[in-house]
Amino acid sequence: MRDEHGRDIRYLRLSVTDRCNCRCVYCMPEDGVPMLSHADILSFEEMRGIVAAAASVGVRKVRLTGGEPLARRGIAELVGMVADVPGIDEVDMTTNATLLAPMAAGLRAAGLTRLNVSLDTLDAARYAAITRRGALADALAGLEAARAAGFANTKINCVLIGGVNDDELRPLAELARDRAITVRFIELMRMGECAGWPKGRFVSADEVLSAVPELEPVGGQGVSELYHAPGWQGDVGLIRPMTHRFCGSCDRIRVTADGRLKPCLHSSAEISLRGLSGRELVKAMRAGIAAKPRGHRMDAVRASDSLRAMNEIGG
Ligand code: 5AD
Ligand code: SF4
Repeated sequence: MRDEHGRDIRYLRLSVTDRCNCRCVYCMPEDGVPMLSHADILSFEEMRGIVAAAASVGVRKVRLTGGEPLARRGIAELVGMVADVPGIDEVDMTTNATLLAPMAAGLRAAGLTRLNVSLDTLDAARYAAITRRGALADALAGLEAARAAGFANTKINCVLIGGVNDDELRPLAELARDRAITVRFIELMRMGECAGWPKGRFVSADEVLSAVPELEPVGGQGVSELYHAPGWQGDVGLIRPMTHRFCGSCDRIRVTADGRLKPCLHSSAEISLRGLSGRELVKAMRAGIAAKPRGHRMDAVRASDSLRAMNEIGG
């Protein structure tokens, strides 16, 4: 279905939990956030219904996000339920991968198509400092298990944090040298935990091109600009929500773990889907898509208008 600005909405990001086994400094406070109660969180059946309604209005791809989706019990079963919805031809997941190693094969068997793995550093001490709870070795084991389980086109998402990981851009990019993966660098968005962080933390993705000058542009892929270096197996992507607006090509809607449709990541507008089914649910979905704003107003000084923290939306 097209929204009021002519964008064809084919992609649903579904947050399956607000919980996470990590506490990344830009995402969650040290002590965690007030968690949604179990009763507030959508059941698998409710999620299936929401995905089916989305499919009926043209959504073809679903990404499961969190919090950390692997922290939701029975996640492989949910993957299977979503993959079986008629019309859905791709089910992806964004994960920190620290819990992935023992689960990768089961997720693949359940019908998961592709993985995006969040990885901001290759230094174990830094990884511990950024995630507060995670271990780099677990994330790397998760990546390796994904490859062994047959996942292809895995993407690594690396959030650029000035003074924290911007001296590692080359080694991070080089993960794509000998592997058929895409390493995507994401400009830190001024929202939630980091809304008030100093300017120096917000690094332009241009820094990646300075650090790896042999990268050559090879076109775009949704919100990501793709680059390739001669002889490398994989690609490097830049996602620049802060320095470039890609609202014009935004093809997605989001649903939070408590069942609210967010037409835009950075808007406070939400439409509750809770308790709706059948035609009512489809109607609410249509209304949410139609209501997608033309763009957001976040910039270098102005924070996101979203009322939600990242762990409730999943990026
Ligand atoms: N800016 C950019 N990316 C963020 N993420 C979380 N918070 C932010 C932010 N403020 C990313 C995580 C992960 C995904 C779920 O969202 O690193 O890749
Ligand atoms: Fe968890 Fe991802 Fe947030 Fe880190 S960024 S705390 S891994 S949800």
